[in-house]
Amino acid sequence: PKLWCVVPAAGRGTRVGGDCPKQYLPLAGRPLIEHTMARLAAHPRIAGLLVTLAAADRYWPGLTTFAGKPVLTAIGGAERSDSVLAGLDVLPDAVGAEDFVLVHDAARPCVRLADISKLIEQAGAADGGLLGAPLRDTLKRADAAGRSESTEPRDRRWRAFTPQMFRRGQLSAALREAARRTLSVSDEAMAMELAGHAPLLVEGAEDNIKVTTAADFALAEFLLSRTGG
Ligand code: CTP
Ligand code: MG
Repeated sequence: PKLWCVVPAAGRGTRVGGDCPKQYLPLAGRPLIEHTMARLAAHPRIAGLLVTLAAADRYWPGLTTFAGKPVLTAIGGAERSDSVLAGLDVLPDAVGAEDFVLVHDAARPCVRLADISKLIEQAGAADGGLLGAPLRDTLKRADAAGRSESTEPRDRRWRAFTPQMFRRGQLSAALREAARRTLSVSDEAMAMELAGHAPLLVEGAEDNIKVTTAADFALAEFLLSRTGG
C-alpha cells in the first residue's frame, strides 16, 4: 500500500534569519522545499504530499501536483506538533486510521530514498518508528556558566531524524493527548512515547541534516550533490 507524507513547512526559520522562511531560500538554485518534495515524490511508495503552511505564507508556489504526485496543503500551527496534527486532520479519507503515514520536515532536503525504503520496511513491521543515528560525540551536561558539569553516557543515545512513520489514528490521538496535557513534543516519536508506544529507531545516513542555520545551506548543497536522491 502507498503512504501519504505530511510535510511540516509552517515554521519561520528564525535561526537561519533570512528574508523569508528557510524552506523558501535558494539551495542549489531552487527553493529548499522543492528539493525535499522532489525526494519524497520520487519514492515509489509515497502516494502524495500534505504540506502544512503558515497562515501568512506568501511564498508557497500553489502547487497541486509535484513530480506526478498529488499535493494538498493545510494551515499549520504555532508549534511543529500543531502543524503535523493539522496535516493529519485533512489527509484524504482513503487514508484509514490503521494506515501508516510518514512525517518529514520540509527542512530536511538531503534524505536518501534508500533510507525512506528502510524506514517503511522496518517501522512498518514494528508498528511505527523513525530514522535516526546513534550519537557519535561525547555528550556533556553544561552548568549555567557554560562549564562542563558532567559527562553523559553515550550508549543507547540516538539523534532523531525524519521521516517518522506511524499509524494515522494512533499518531493523531497521541499528538492530541500531548496538546491536551500542554506537553511540548519535539517530534512524533515523543508523542507516541508519552502515549505508551516504543517507536523503532531505524539507523539512517547522517546526511539527512535539518537545515537549521545559514551555514547549513552550503553543507546541504554538498550533501545533495553527493547523495543524488
Ligand atoms: N514547522 C512547522 N510548524 C511550526 C514550526 C516548525 O511546520 N510551527 C516545521 C518547519 O517549517 C520545519 C520543521 O517543522 O520544516 C522543523 O522545524 P525547525 O527546523 O525548527 O524549523 P523552524 O521552526 O522554521 O526554524 P526555527 O526553529 O529556527 O525558527
Ligand atoms: Mg523551530
